[in-house]
Amino acid sequence: MLHLHFNPETDVSKVLAPEALNMFQFEWKIYQKLVHANEMHHREIGQLLRDEIGRRFDRPFAFLDLACGDASLAHMVLRASKVATYEGLDLSRPALQCAARVMKDAPYDVELAEEDMVEGILRRPASANFIWCGYSIHHLQRAQQQEMLSAIRDALKPGGVFVCAEPVCLPGETRTEYTRRWQAELRHRFRSLTEAEYAHLWQHISTHDFPEAPEDWVAMGKTAGFATSREIFRFPGDLFCAAFLYER
Ligand SMILES: C[S@@+](CC[C@H](N)C(=O)[O-])C[C@H]1O[C@@H](n2cnc3c(N)ncnc32)[C@H](O)[C@@H]1O
Repeated sequence: MLHLHFNPETDVSKVLAPEALNMFQFEWKIYQKLVHANEMHHREIGQLLRDEIGRRFDRPFAFLDLACGDASLAHMVLRASKVATYEGLDLSRPALQCAARVMKDAPYDVELAEEDMVEGILRRPASANFIWCGYSIHHLQRAQQQEMLSAIRDALKPGGVFVCAEPVCLPGETRTEYTRRWQAELRHRFRSLTEAEYAHLWQHISTHDFPEAPEDWVAMGKTAGFATSREIFRFPGDLFCAAFLYER
């Protein structure tokens, strides 16, 4: 059974980092091209998630997808698993409409909601066994990222797991150095985009991305009270994005 909830009361101007959302509310197709071309390594990260789920959950479990986008990674990961409920939150209607198409035949309960991930996580204490958040927390400032990780820990049931993938910088690297390092190089990686699409995406990245070093993502997990936190995947080549796993 699938439910898609749009919330006419949603006031995007009130969320943290509202400008970072524009790209996904009005130009969802640009990011979707990257996903379809696997240029953000969803396939490799999805495989890691699938392995973790297979190892840990031989009974029905609840999966929460924060800033779910089109939910394609979760759809792939949850196939043949024992998942009972999938919940995806996002503030982009085009993304949620894609997610509804992707999940339409899923053999488990699917709830898709137009909801702020920050408020959403606070409203779900101890509710999920597995939480995934792809490429979305880095729009928040460092103190907010830390609060988000603490709230995610509290939203997990005992024994629960959180995985995120985020842009990362070198230790001590400033945002200016990070953007200088990536502007030309990223164009080669994102081959699926036209020049105009890349220009648009680069404007988003150079204005709204706040990468942290991998060590800091691990340290933030410890400060949040997770029992363990570690890096599980790094994009090939120069340091750009990585995935982290946290156990409650
Ligand atoms: C880079 S996309 C990632 C989508 C998906 N998680 C993935 O891995 O492909 C970022 C997503 O975060 C969503 N988003 C940004 N800020 C949000 C917020 N405060 N609450 C909910 N969703 C948000 C955007 O609409 C977009 O779908």
